[in-house]
Amino acid sequence: MVNVHRRRSWEIAESFATPEYAFLNRRALLAAMGIGAMAAAVAPGRARGAEADPTADLYPARKNDAYGVDNGITPENINANYNNFYEYGTDKYIATAAQSLVVRPWPIEIGGLVEKPLTIEFDELVRRFPLETRLYRHRCVEAWSMTIPWSGFPLASLVEFARPLSDAKFIRFETFLDPSMAPGQNSFLYPWPYVEGVTMAEAANELAFLVTGAYDKPLLKQFGAPIRLALPWKYGFKSIKSIRRIDFVAERPVGLWEAIQPSEYGFWANVNPDVPHPRWSQARERVLHTGETIPTRIFNGYGAQVAHLYEGLDPSSLFM
Ligand code: MTE
Repeated sequence: MVNVHRRRSWEIAESFATPEYAFLNRRALLAAMGIGAMAAAVAPGRARGAEADPTADLYPARKNDAYGVDNGITPENINANYNNFYEYGTDKYIATAAQSLVVRPWPIEIGGLVEKPLTIEFDELVRRFPLETRLYRHRCVEAWSMTIPWSGFPLASLVEFARPLSDAKFIRFETFLDPSMAPGQNSFLYPWPYVEGVTMAEAANELAFLVTGAYDKPLLKQFGAPIRLALPWKYGFKSIKSIRRIDFVAERPVGLWEAIQPSEYGFWANVNPDVPHPRWSQARERVLHTGETIPTRIFNGYGAQVAHLYEGLDPSSLFM
């Protein structure tokens, strides 16, 4: 057999990314993991279940060059060991615990205000849409950021597939609920399951993306396998992981964080450096793969695509 080096689709040589991203910068890793953290680094390579995954043949997905980043890609081993997934713990080092997430079978219910509610297995759903790879920025409300090669399909394609009725105004997403495989769900401090929502106009926006893979393979469990959302102009908590239920609704959904602390986490949660979180500034962000702190941009730099969605709305609630 000939050993061919196949360039991974997110490995771009062009202007978007600096070549340094490919190297694991020790300082950045320590910064990302928190010095002294005893978390076991989970090797994110293909070995961890990727071959056994019946959707592995879908990757690498065609790269869509319309979506790029300008400060390099976060190496997979940094990203895969610094996650928010409260179902598996409240710190960033849940990668090992998240391996108990069982992703097959994974029936997804699509219901609410649709022509015909249905349940579809993830492995079938993912083959209904052409997958593509996009480089997206990811800005957490906690003021750190990454850049990620996500693969998936536009949320707008799912909306078309679901055939919502005209009185649907929002989409409500729900994560699985199973404390036997997610110990964090035994905690009474959180109103499980994790819920998030968007307006129909936001769902139709080109940037709203349903993610099924990253780094040219199916999603690692800690990333929210087998399917999660990416809304790169909003704080990361809007990008719900491990989606099990999608409902088209008339009322604005209340997300898990909004339910717990509405004075700190709202429905819109659009990134804005000029609107501080009640307990910290949002002016700057720590880039996990460089260790640098850089200025945050309005709508996380995606204003050209999304600012029009919010014209005429009360700005006092749009950015929390
Ligand atoms: N989805 C679920 N189900 N559970 C979570 O705890 N955390 C959110 C979001 N989606 C979360 C979730 C938060 S706060 C962020 S910043 C991102 O996932 C983190 O995604 P990442 O771990 O891929 O960086």
